[in-house]
Order: sequence, then C-alpha cells, then structure tokens
Amino acid sequence: MNQRKVEDAPVVIVACGDTLGWREDLEEIIRIGREHDIGGDAWADRKRRNVIADLGSHPNISMWVTKQTMIAATTMMWMAEALGYDTGPMEGFDEDKVREALGIPEHVRVLFLLALGRLRGEDGKYPGRLPRSRTLFAERYGDPFPELSQTDFLSS
Ligand SMILES: Cc1cc2nc3c(=O)[nH]c(=O)nc-3n(C[C@H](O)[C@H](O)[C@H](O)COP(=O)(O)O)c2cc1C
Repeated sequence: MNQRKVEDAPVVIVACGDTLGWREDLEEIIRIGREHDIGGDAWADRKRRNVIADLGSHPNISMWVTKQTMIAATTMMWMAEALGYDTGPMEGFDEDKVREALGIPEHVRVLFLLALGRLRGEDGKYPGRLPRSRTLFAERYGDPFPELSQTDFLSS
C-alpha cells in the first residue's frame, strides 16, 4: 500500500499469529512444561483437556491469536523505544500480499508490522490525545477515575 516506512526502516517486524499453533504445538508445550517439573500426568491431562475445550471450538480464533500476538508485538515496541530506537506500528497492509511475499501459510494471520529504526529529521507534530476523563474509568465503565493523589490503593 505504498507504505514508506516499510522501505525506509532498516528493520520491519512482521508479527504473525498461528491459528493452528495451539493444536500443533500442544504436546510440545506440555513436554517442555514437564521437563521443567510443572506437573505430572494429571497436570498434562488437565492441560490437554482445558486447551482443547477452550480453543477447539473457539468462536473467533483469529481474535484469540491477535490478543496473544499483540502482547508480544507491543512489548517489542516498548523495548525498542526504551533502547533508544524509533518505532512505527502499521496495520495498513494487504495481508494476503504480505503472506505471499514472505511465504507465510494460510492459517497464519499477519497481524501487525512494526518498523524499527532511528528518527531522521524532526519528530512529527503532536497529533492530540483524548483527556484521561474520556478513557480511564474506575469500578464501572464511564465512572470517573479518582485523581492520582487519591489512588493510594495502587501502592497498597
Ligand atoms: C494500530 C496502529 C496502526 C497504524 N498503522 C499505520 C500504517 O499502516 N501506516 C502508517 O504510516 N502509520 C500507521 N500508524 C501510525 C504510525 O505508525 C505512528 O503511530 C504515527 O506515525 C506517529 O504516532 P503518533 O500518533 O503518536 O504521532 C498506525 C498506528 C497505530 C497505533
């Protein structure tokens, strides 16, 4: 989609979510857990049963892998920024074309591109953000969040 960032950035992370991974890798994950003494046969049976019950008939497995993948992708983004790099998240791409270009199988969702590099020139102008009162609530959706001076519970 003529995304300049993809051409300009020295590195672009392509974050993918494997919609069959939970099934194909289940026994391997169980084996690794057991290797680390997480549990015995009973633990393995329970794990197998729970994963199959939760994901075997999941109504929206793409949504599920998106949640998992975005935790990793966002962590990479923060880490890169913390190390002094600049980042550009992108969702404006043609998933099938990225799949084709990189040989990514059909059952793997391409969810997010993350351009990494160093800022050239000036930083962009502040685009504006909504005030906290519009985005942060306490107890019930829409209820005001207390002022920070009243949030002693956060440290208790
Ligand atoms: C979820 C998400 C998707 C984005 N997708 C694109 C994209 O496809 N192409 C692009 O040039 N910028 C995209 N952006 C914006 C930039 O990567 C970057 O956030 C923006 O240029 C500067 O951030 P700012 O909103 O803090 O100024 C996206 C941002 C977010 C949060």
